[in-house]
Amino acid sequence: MIIVGCSNSTNIAKRIARILGKTYSELSVQKFPDGELNIRFTEKLKAKDIVLVQSFYNNKKTKMSINDQLMEVFFAARTAKHLGAKSVTLASPYFPYFRQDKEFHPGECLSIKVVAHMMNECLNKILVVDPHLHRLKTMYDVFTIRSKTLTANDLIADYIKKHDGNAIIIGPDWESYRWAEKTAHKIGCESAILQKTRYGAREVKVRLNKKMDLKNKHIFLVDDIISTGHTILETIKDLKKLGGKRFTAIGIHGLLVEGALQKLRKAGATVITTNTIVGATNKIDIAHLIADALEK
Ligand code: R5P
Repeated sequence: MIIVGCSNSTNIAKRIARILGKTYSELSVQKFPDGELNIRFTEKLKAKDIVLVQSFYNNKKTKMSINDQLMEVFFAARTAKHLGAKSVTLASPYFPYFRQDKEFHPGECLSIKVVAHMMNECLNKILVVDPHLHRLKTMYDVFTIRSKTLTANDLIADYIKKHDGNAIIIGPDWESYRWAEKTAHKIGCESAILQKTRYGAREVKVRLNKKMDLKNKHIFLVDDIISTGHTILETIKDLKKLGGKRFTAIGIHGLLVEGALQKLRKAGATVITTNTIVGATNKIDIAHLIADALEK
């Protein structure tokens, strides 16, 4: 097995290789001035099981967009097969487009289906950490290749247990029950899921439909994705009215776009994320999760 670090995930790929005691190799990726990509493997791949490690998010440092990164994986997987690899697996700490799982308006692209189709074309297997499966029930609704989902819930539960015995967990919307409620169940603490209405990409309203004593609790807001932060900000606003004082927002995938981190901190929240997306808020390491799944 060779673990290949793609442009967004070299550090975590190195850690996975180290945990497994396997060869690590970095994919060479160049972006030409006109935006075209050139990728190259530096290791011999013949008869090897190749694991490409890639998270998909706009990266200011490398100037690679999500869509560049998709092409990078597509090129890499096809090239690996061409070079004689026995199998090609994608291990993706964060996989994009899952929120576009419905034709919201007539004529709209069902993006996750198209992206999954690209992956079905070039991979043998895909592992994804906490995909945003909402209207899709399983990965097999869009992927035809072997697929596996991994969850950081146990790691989040450990983090909360270690940091506060007086925790209460709030999920900002129905979709977050998979993370918030399940994590609360593992810890054995109280939890609630709010009712969220979304009016646009940056406008949401939330409501707590249950009486709870929030005053003396450390409120952990747990969700899969923190993007613009509006969902969490509205939640904090609502819970403050009900007496909430101490807030920690835990997102598995910290996209944190459009100044979300600053806005959340200004609202009085500590922000914690896993390292599926590299950033200053990374406090929970998911490398072992992927390494264990690859070992199995
Ligand atoms: C959507 O249902 C997700 O679980 C998140 O709640 C959402 O993506 C967060 O987005 P934002 O931070 O932009 O409100």
